[in-house]
Amino acid sequence: MTDRLISIFPTTILNRHLDGMEEVNQQLSALVAQIAATEPNNTTGTTTEGGFQTKEDLFQRDNPGINALKPHILQAVQEYASHVLRQELQRSPEKVDFILWGWAVSYKAGHTQGLHVHPGANVSGVYYVSAPPSALAPGDIGKISFYDPRARATMVQLPYQVNRHRVAPVPGDMYLFPSWLEHSVSAFQGEGERLCIAFNAKLILE
Ligand SMILES: [Fe+2]
Repeated sequence: MTDRLISIFPTTILNRHLDGMEEVNQQLSALVAQIAATEPNNTTGTTTEGGFQTKEDLFQRDNPGINALKPHILQAVQEYASHVLRQELQRSPEKVDFILWGWAVSYKAGHTQGLHVHPGANVSGVYYVSAPPSALAPGDIGKISFYDPRARATMVQLPYQVNRHRVAPVPGDMYLFPSWLEHSVSAFQGEGERLCIAFNAKLILE
């Protein structure tokens, strides 16, 4: 007897931790606070409920924090995209390029983000700048949840079946995921700000 277990249509997320980002994170926090004080909130038409969201031009701003973070994001997108393309395409492309855009989302107590995907992109991601203490504790509080994309996999629930993957917003952590993967953000209560920079990449293959 010969067995082979074949995993088809896997969903791959990249988690990369960037060390030594404390100063950069302070610069990013200050930048978003300044934008929030002087520019309109861009949550209209998004699933962000109660938070503040910048325009999607964050990476075009000349700021030391952005200038330090952007190369890390470009590199992560490049590496994650090659992994996913190896996984998903029948043959490798000659060249992989992409268009990248990003925005910041700030949540205070009670703010949430409803279930959504990122239309118009192939690769999406999030980088965590700051987190309230409660979001780093176990449980749902302040976490991002990724949901099982296999629509019928939850048809008949088994005991202890996992169909939701929760991730704590640890500052310095970055997550890259397929843009079609449904996700949401749960509220936290109490002190602190949950600040993240979200981004999208549209891949251009040759
Ligand atoms: Fe999102």
